[in-house]
Amino acid sequence: MDDNEPLKIAEGIYWVGVVDWNLRDFHGYETPKGGSYNAYLIIDEKIALIDTVKATFSEEMLKRIKKIVDPSKIDYVISNHVEMDHSGSLPVIMEEAPNATLVASAKGKAGLGEHYKEDGCENWNFQVVKTGDEISLGKRTLMFIEATMLHWPDSMQTYLKEDKILFSNDAFGQHIATSKRFDDEVEDVMEDAAIYYANILLPFSPQVLKYMKKLGELGLGTDMTIAPAHGVIWRKNPAKVIEAYARWAKGETSPKVLVIYDSMWGSTEKMAMEIVEGVRSAGVEVRLRHLRKNDWSMTMKEVMESPVIAIGSPTMNNRMFYTISGFLTYVAGLRPKGKKYFLFGSYGWGGGAVKGMEKEMESARFELVEESLQVKYRPYEDDLEKCRAVGQKLAEIAKEEAKY
Ligand code: FEO
Repeated sequence: MDDNEPLKIAEGIYWVGVVDWNLRDFHGYETPKGGSYNAYLIIDEKIALIDTVKATFSEEMLKRIKKIVDPSKIDYVISNHVEMDHSGSLPVIMEEAPNATLVASAKGKAGLGEHYKEDGCENWNFQVVKTGDEISLGKRTLMFIEATMLHWPDSMQTYLKEDKILFSNDAFGQHIATSKRFDDEVEDVMEDAAIYYANILLPFSPQVLKYMKKLGELGLGTDMTIAPAHGVIWRKNPAKVIEAYARWAKGETSPKVLVIYDSMWGSTEKMAMEIVEGVRSAGVEVRLRHLRKNDWSMTMKEVMESPVIAIGSPTMNNRMFYTISGFLTYVAGLRPKGKKYFLFGSYGWGGGAVKGMEKEMESARFELVEESLQVKYRPYEDDLEKCRAVGQKLAEIAKEEAKY
């Protein structure tokens, strides 16, 4: 396939997005598999472009569009979301398609006005839409659905009624770079969708539940195709990702314990290993994540899915280790609900790691389920026995707390 070849996803409907193979950091979210920015072109009596791509990829998107149609013939540019990974190429497109109507939510119009003051946005012909509004393209109809906080206040989605395709923008996305375009063509897509939810949408879970209710009221269900703005298109079995969103938004977990830690000279690591052994011996699944050796985005997915979390840190300069403080701040911002936790760590003289973690955890509103454990210099057998016992206790709590 020509690199600039668009991909036909249905009659008259084309993917004209870009794959960002080298993306490894999406505004602080680690993306070891890369990413993509999906834009879609619909050819009918009227021509519509749904979303654009990051500004650095404008020319690549434009080349794909030109393989199908002269961009000056585009009638509608739908901007589902202001964030720059989707709106970044609007200035280029609106210059190429000066007669196009730019369709956005009310907050979308306001946000685009703030972002593109120096790009001639005062000359853009805006049409503001709200949930249920429709635009006819001829044989096809676009309907708009406001999707507040999925993932910004301005976010909306576009539903192509006759083809039953939901252009869901950020919702139902995955950060992966692949030459494949459909969910049934790639492996691990549910895991990638879970990582994406945990790192992007988790804090907005109450809004996700409201949005799911709205989809039901609009009669949109599992018989549609979902074409997100990141990753692959859900054509085979959209029910699985819709049902997973409901579970993640409700905070449902499976019976497992997550042990997160860092270590300087191995003392905290020995404690972590014994906690793992305690959980394992009680017959419960356990995951161990060293924060300097694992992606935080994957670790965040484990946080989302685990009812019980043990966190260990060595003391460095009277404080918790920097990866632990950074990660706890990251977790607190993503606001997972209903987690139980236990803290452990080591120190040489002054201490401070466990105290610092306790303070940080207050803001995360997790529930402490076992008194913190700390050792001086190195753990001996009696300390390690305590760690194993704690692991067994955490395993029992995980069994009680898990919701599926
Ligand atoms: Fe993919 Fe909220 O931007």
